[in-house]
Amino acid sequence: MPLIDVDGVSHAYPAQRRPVLQDVTVHLTERRIGVIGANGSGKSTFARLLNGLVVPQTGTVTVDGHDTRRDGRRVRQLVGFCFTDPDAQIVMPTVAEDVAFSLRRRDLRGQRLEDRVRAVLARFGLDAHADHPAHLLSGGQKQLLALASVLVTEPALLVLDEPTTLLDLRNAALIADLVAGLAEQVVLLTHQLELLDGFDRVLVFDEGRLVADADPATAVEHYRRLMRARR
Ligand SMILES: Nc1ncnc2c1ncn2[C@@H]1O[C@H](COP(=O)(O)OP(=O)(O)OP(=O)(O)O)[C@@H](O)[C@H]1O
Ligand SMILES: [Mg+2]
Repeated sequence: MPLIDVDGVSHAYPAQRRPVLQDVTVHLTERRIGVIGANGSGKSTFARLLNGLVVPQTGTVTVDGHDTRRDGRRVRQLVGFCFTDPDAQIVMPTVAEDVAFSLRRRDLRGQRLEDRVRAVLARFGLDAHADHPAHLLSGGQKQLLALASVLVTEPALLVLDEPTTLLDLRNAALIADLVAGLAEQVVLLTHQLELLDGFDRVLVFDEGRLVADADPATAVEHYRRLMRARR
């Protein structure tokens, strides 16, 4: 299980001076880690630190001992990242080609590659769409494809930024079950708090600060209290 080590991180984007993350320090070794908080509280920025998409202005982030600032390539091999907007990561014309593209650096060709792609599409209920244009899938189907394309690479750590926002009840349950069954370490950002049942640890962000770090019930209660106080 990779150790995620976020140490003294503060970050502001060039476009705005206000810090988006302030003085965040956290060590994460658990298998199932949730991240919750208000819109704009810094969750996605935190998630992007973990695969080096965002390199912090201050502080360091290491995954399994690899510093995202110095060793970004290695970090990206370890960390699979799923964006909220699946259009941001679907790159190939058809559904099957998109999954196959994720496997381009593996030594998989011909029938073996095809079998692997078919298997993952079946797991996500997309096998009937294998040869369809990816951009014509529904929003939820695109989200499933984005997840399939990341999971097929078997990353050591999987960072999922609101992976169920576009999904119907059945597919949201499918993703919840799938996440529960994964051997990999998962960091899951969500506004769907019931997804965090059974998680090992949940972080609550507020205005760029880590304000709670607890079991799911305690963290969710903290978040609800924060939101009630703002109404
Ligand atoms: N690329 C960027 N450039 C400038 N500002 C950004 C950028 N990305 C995010 N921000 C700003 O950083 C702050 C935190 O954004 P972030 O996306 O991390 O929040 P979030 O907690 O994921 O919110 P949500 O629940 O709405 O997804 C926001 O004020 C946002 O406007
Ligand atoms: Mg976000």
